[in-house]
Amino acid sequence: MKQVLVTGGAGYIGSHTIVSLVEQGFYPIIVDDLRNSSRVILDGLAELTVDRFLFIPIDICDKEALFRVFDDHTFDAIIHFAAYKSVGESCEVPLQYYQNNLIGLMNVLEACSRYSIPKFVFSSSCTVYGEPDQKQVYETTPKRLPESPYGFTKWMGEQIIEDVHRNSVPFQTICLRYFNPIGAHPSGLIGELPVGIPNNLLPYITQTAAGIRSHLTVFGNDYPTPDGTCIRDYVHVNDVADAHVRALLFTSENPLSVFNIGTGKGTSVLEMIQYFNEVSGMDLPYHIGSRRAGDITEIFANVSYSNATLGWRAKRNVKEALNDAWNWEKRQAKSND
Ligand SMILES: NC(=O)c1ccc[n+]([C@@H]2O[C@H](COP(=O)([O-])OP(=O)(O)OC[C@H]3O[C@@H](n4cnc5c(N)ncnc54)[C@H](O)[C@@H]3O)[C@@H](O)[C@H]2O)c1
Repeated sequence: MKQVLVTGGAGYIGSHTIVSLVEQGFYPIIVDDLRNSSRVILDGLAELTVDRFLFIPIDICDKEALFRVFDDHTFDAIIHFAAYKSVGESCEVPLQYYQNNLIGLMNVLEACSRYSIPKFVFSSSCTVYGEPDQKQVYETTPKRLPESPYGFTKWMGEQIIEDVHRNSVPFQTICLRYFNPIGAHPSGLIGELPVGIPNNLLPYITQTAAGIRSHLTVFGNDYPTPDGTCIRDYVHVNDVADAHVRALLFTSENPLSVFNIGTGKGTSVLEMIQYFNEVSGMDLPYHIGSRRAGDITEIFANVSYSNATLGWRAKRNVKEALNDAWNWEKRQAKSND
């Protein structure tokens, strides 16, 4: 059985990927210090996978601890999720973002070379496109300087990987540029579990609906879009998870490949609220606030290259994702009662 190291595997996208990996016959070993996750997710994973994974609690910035994992286990591939991910927060504490996201990546890349790991999958982001001229972006769309320190960590992460590959390293890298992952596993056993106040739209919507937050703030309704709110490409997290399995199965003569992981369709914040009201039967309270630092107006993926070359396509729609996210939030609320 192929063994895969999954950094940040207890996190939101990581945990859903663990389920997909186990379903496809891989044995994942998670390294995560749970700084932005919790035992609840590991319990859900244990139930969903019948314990077919290993969890090692370490900080990947601790290079010695990380290398000990490589001394003790052999890996056919690494999927590297572990990083901080909030655009807004990164503007407030940029050093923490540069330290964690870049040192973590460099440690993992060093391990790839030192321990001759044949495949490396990197969690990149559509933030590397910055504020693009054309709102639909291709993998070939020139990268622009991002709007936030978080975006820079992904932009520089890709640059570091490119530079490492210039030296003809003996491993294959696949960068997956996620657009906006949302939703949860339909079982309701795992989902997004942000520590503290959520920075992403979806957990904020579901926490407001569950009464944890009094209302949702929409950050600006004066953007040049049809309803004035920002437009993003929301993609079900289980589809994102499946893209990682495709990446592990993907072979290419090209040592470095990049794929957009989105649906190809943009949805505005107000449309998301309306869809959520439809699937939940609620009337979500929201206020219009001012614009938030680091947010761009509109972006969505062109996915023809990932469809044709990676053999991956998003199968679930936004309403299914909203329904699954709401199901997860309700289960959480019940278990906290
Ligand atoms: N969720 C999104 O909207 C989105 C979009 C684009 C890219 N990404 C990227 O995808 C990856 C996963 O995102 P996510 O939404 O699952 O985030 P997440 O915060 O839910 O998961 C990240 C996991 O990594 C762990 N972690 C962070 N730093 C660590 C360290 N130094 N050592 C050990 N563990 C550490 C956290 O505890 C957490 O469990 C990140 O690299 C993120 O930047 C996310």
